[in-house]
Amino acid sequence: MSEGARRAVIRGTGSSLPEGVMSNADLARMVDTSDEWITTRTGIRERRVASAEEPMSKFATLAARQALEAAGVTAADLDLLICASVTPDMPIPSTACIIQDQLGAANAAAFDLAAGCTGFLYGLAVAERFLASPQYRNVLVIGAEVLSKYVDWTDRTTCVLFGDGAGAAVLSAGEAPYGVLATALRADGSLADYIHVPAGGTREPASEKTIADRRHYIKMKGNETFKMAVRSMEEMSRDVLQKAGLATGDIDLFIPHQANRRIIDAVGSRLGLREDQVFVNIERVGNTAAASIPVALDEAVRQGRLKSGDVVLFTAFGTGLTWGASAVRWGG
Ligand code: ACO
Repeated sequence: MSEGARRAVIRGTGSSLPEGVMSNADLARMVDTSDEWITTRTGIRERRVASAEEPMSKFATLAARQALEAAGVTAADLDLLICASVTPDMPIPSTACIIQDQLGAANAAAFDLAAGCTGFLYGLAVAERFLASPQYRNVLVIGAEVLSKYVDWTDRTTCVLFGDGAGAAVLSAGEAPYGVLATALRADGSLADYIHVPAGGTREPASEKTIADRRHYIKMKGNETFKMAVRSMEEMSRDVLQKAGLATGDIDLFIPHQANRRIIDAVGSRLGLREDQVFVNIERVGNTAAASIPVALDEAVRQGRLKSGDVVLFTAFGTGLTWGASAVRWGG
């Protein structure tokens, strides 16, 4: 794309995590596990957990306010608000509308986007398409989850992994060479049962039996997910770099979905990246699904890990199944 061409530029980021911390030692008092097992197999030492009174929209709104402030954009300037999440406040209406009201984003359209851990990258792609039209100037993309309320706290194979939180980014129409360079997205619904919550929707509405059978909680085929995540995240990363006309050597910072430290390390090493090129915060936050990448991005920004002109590569894999990657030239 030529200099001066219209691009979707990330103008500001924000994030919010619950105050409640749950350590591996806390979990070891609840299920048959140990700090040693969790740390070695996942890299997670603690995660943030919302209180009974805290819905997903609380963290999403806090993250969004920070992103607006960082971008120097008011809520009234927003044309579109996308909330990527699989843990809504309630089935009806969309949580995006609840956040839109809390922000006072009176001129914004708002909708939820369910693409699991890849949700933020799907959101970036949607924002980019809207910003290609001159009618849209500012789009807010949020990734937010309160997974702790969908986790079976008696199931040691899943409860050790997940955490709560929210991240957000304001994207505005800007000019090349900055902004979103390329995106690649995929889905395979034939593997929906790798990570799913069977009941509580229209297929198995809530009943005494679904509650007694614990079917409102996350079920996951961890091993199968692990292998596919590594392969897919590497493939999407290479695909998106090729689309952007870049090589792995051009990556300044790699921000992968924080699913499992071993997945992050495996993908980073397959791409030939050094440890200092890979952003990792999983030890403190766990796997926060759609919030994972925007929380990590905001932390990277606030730590001064990104400078104008840097190439940032994002990649994610999650329920759906969905997976994808985006390459962004920071700045502008
Ligand atoms: N503590 C102690 N032992 C445990 C625990 C635990 N918390 N969990 C499982 N084990 C045991 C198992 O029962 C098994 O015991 P066995 O050998 O006697 O049967 C043993 O540990 C090994 O279990 P595995 O499942 O093979 O362990 P693995 O090394 O694969 O790690 C894990 C499991 C961490 C879940 C890993 O598979 C993983 O991270 N998978 C990917 C998860 C992911 O990325 N999900 C996608 C995103 S989530 C979303 O989209 C919402």
